[in-house]
Amino acid sequence: MEPAIEVENLAHAYPGKPPVQAVMDVNMVAAEGEFVSLVGSSGCGKSTLLKVLAGLIRPTSGHASVDGQDATQSIGVAAYMPQGGVLLPWLRALANATLGATIAGVGRKEATSHARELFERFGLGGFESAWPSELSGGMQQRVALLRTFLTPRSTILLDEPFGALDAITRREMHAWLQDVWANERRTVLFVTHDVEEALTLSDRVYVMSKRPGTLVAEFRSPFPRPRGREIQTSPEFATLKGQLLDALEAASS
Ligand SMILES: Nc1ncnc2c1ncn2[C@@H]1O[C@H](COP(=O)(O)OP(=O)(O)O)[C@@H](O)[C@H]1O
Ligand SMILES: [Mg+2]
Repeated sequence: MEPAIEVENLAHAYPGKPPVQAVMDVNMVAAEGEFVSLVGSSGCGKSTLLKVLAGLIRPTSGHASVDGQDATQSIGVAAYMPQGGVLLPWLRALANATLGATIAGVGRKEATSHARELFERFGLGGFESAWPSELSGGMQQRVALLRTFLTPRSTILLDEPFGALDAITRREMHAWLQDVWANERRTVLFVTHDVEEALTLSDRVYVMSKRPGTLVAEFRSPFPRPRGREIQTSPEFATLKGQLLDALEAASS
């Protein structure tokens, strides 16, 4: 079976004097239905890689395919949540949430009713008509996450989706995400700098080196699902977390 995400010898340099070599020699795969995370220190090129897979940046060299299509030739092969969420300020929360789905051809009625259900589940009930500026950073991020999940694509790219959330909300979102992923089995590529989050959610975790970012280590997270507090406080989890942190530290120095 062909992998859902396949990246081969990918490199990208932002133009300038001198150019900024963001990523180099990136090789990775994600199987269909697999949850894969990418961890790396700030500025190492994680967002650049996701933008390439989202079709927003054309790489300097190399190949990237998503669900059998060349990801560098068209926008929107995968559902994509940019870092920071990014809502359109002139649309209310509900309209922001359905945007990805309606652009992808889902009927407005269907998208809206699906979004309404998720608003409750995301702790956003009652805020359907709010403007983005009336929502906290964490709420805006949840609307953006909701929009991404409502976009009918089998592969989902999430760039630090829980960055602005407090610890409790973050834990709730982890539970929700595991639940949804177990039911839908979409392929997820998840960017984070939080190793505990990566091990909790993923099947596999790639470690990216400092810029120019390249993938230098790979870990399997073998814990039974769903993974909650009991798993995170187990000695096995602590050991693996220590190894992953060591690899991240070595890759970042
Ligand atoms: N549009 C851009 N033009 C020039 N340099 C950029 C641009 N976007 C990002 N960079 C640089 O590329 C490197 C990687 O950035 P990024 O992919 O955002 O890293 P990360 O997401 O891992 O924090 C950084 O050094 C950043 O400053
Ligand atoms: Mg980033």
